[in-house]
Amino acid sequence: MHVLVSGGAGYIGSHTVLALIRAGHSVVVVDDFSNSKAAVVGRLEALAGQQIPVQAFDLTDRDKTDRLFDTEHVDAVIHFAGFKAVGESVAKPLTYYTNNLDTTFSLLRAMERHGTPKLVFSSSATVYGPRSVLPYREDGEEPIEAVNPYGRSKVMLEHVLTDVAAAAPALKVALLRYFNPVGAHPSGMIGEDPGGIPNNLVPYIAQVAVGRREKLSVFGGDYDTPDGTCLRDYIHVEDLAEGHVAALEYLTTATEPARAFNLGTGHGTSVLEMVHAFERAAGRPIPYEIVDRRPGDLPVSYADVSRAAAELGWRATRSVDDMCVDAWRWQSQNPEGYPDA
Ligand code: UFG
Repeated sequence: MHVLVSGGAGYIGSHTVLALIRAGHSVVVVDDFSNSKAAVVGRLEALAGQQIPVQAFDLTDRDKTDRLFDTEHVDAVIHFAGFKAVGESVAKPLTYYTNNLDTTFSLLRAMERHGTPKLVFSSSATVYGPRSVLPYREDGEEPIEAVNPYGRSKVMLEHVLTDVAAAAPALKVALLRYFNPVGAHPSGMIGEDPGGIPNNLVPYIAQVAVGRREKLSVFGGDYDTPDGTCLRDYIHVEDLAEGHVAALEYLTTATEPARAFNLGTGHGTSVLEMVHAFERAAGRPIPYEIVDRRPGDLPVSYADVSRAAAELGWRATRSVDDMCVDAWRWQSQNPEGYPDA
C-alpha cells in the first residue's frame, strides 16, 4: 500500500515509517516539523536505504492537503499529527482543539473526495477515564471520557471518526489506543526527542542518566500499589510501530466501519521498577526523590490486549528491559537529541 503518514517525523510516526517500509509498503510523510527536527529524515533514509518523500506543511491547510491527494494515489492514511502535551493542553485548550480537530477534518475531507478507503488513527489510553474498570477493555461499560483537553480531543475524534465511517460504506477506520510508548529503534539513530523539560517518565530518566538533569522527581509514593508509585503499561515503540502495520492490514478485510484496539502489553510496571530497569540498562544509578502526587494521574493503568491479539494477530513481544536498553542507546548516542537542521 502507499501510505500517507501524517506526523511521520515525530516519535511514533518515525518508527512506524520504518516498520511500514520493512513490511513492503511505500510512504509519503506529511509533517510541519513543529515538534520534530528535519534531521530525522536523513536518519530514516539511512536506516531504510531509500529516499523518503516528505511534504512539510500544516495539515490544517485544507487546500494543500487536497493538492497532495491530487498528486499522490494514497491507499491509506496513518494519522499521527497532533499536539500531545497534557499540561499545555490545559493552558491552551483552544489551540489543542483547533489543531487536533482541524488536521483530522482536512484529511477526512481529502480522503472523502479521493475515495481513500483506510484510516489508522492515533488515539490514547487517556480515553479510559477514572471510572473505567481495569484492565481497560475497548468494550468496557463506561463510555470513553478524559480529564484534560488533550484527552478530550482524542475522545471527540474517536466519535467523529466512528460517525464518518458509519456514513461512508467504503471507509474503514482503526482507532489505536496507545498505552505508554517508550524505547527507541535498536540502532540508536532515531528516538524520542522532547523539547524542553520532558513531561514523560522515561525521557526524564534518560536525561538524568546522561547528565542533563540532576535527579528525577517521582510524583507520589503513597498510592495503593505494591511500592506506592503509579503503575503504567509501558510498550516498546517498535512493538507499537508493528501494531500499526498489523492494523493497516486488518483494514483490508475489516467488517466494522470503525473499531478501537488497545496497544499495550497488558502488564503494569511501577515508576520505581522503571527507574531500576533503566539503572540496569545504563549501568549507573538514577538519583530520585519522592515528591507530591501530580494532579490528574491515575494510580494504575494497563490494557486488556486480547482484542488486538485476536483481530490484528499482533502482540507486544519486547520487555521493559528491552525498552530501557534501547532508550539508553538512543540517549547516550544523542545526548542532546537530534541536531538542529
Ligand atoms: N512520572 C514521575 N516523574 C516524572 C514523570 C512522570 O514520577 O518526571 C510518573 C507519573 O506520575 C506517572 C508515570 O510516571 O505515574 C508515567 O507518567 P508519564 O507522564 O510518562 O505518562 P502518563 O501515563 O501520565 O501519560 C501518558 C501520555 C499521555 C497520555 C497518557 C494516557 O504521556 O499523553 O499516557 O494514559 F494521555
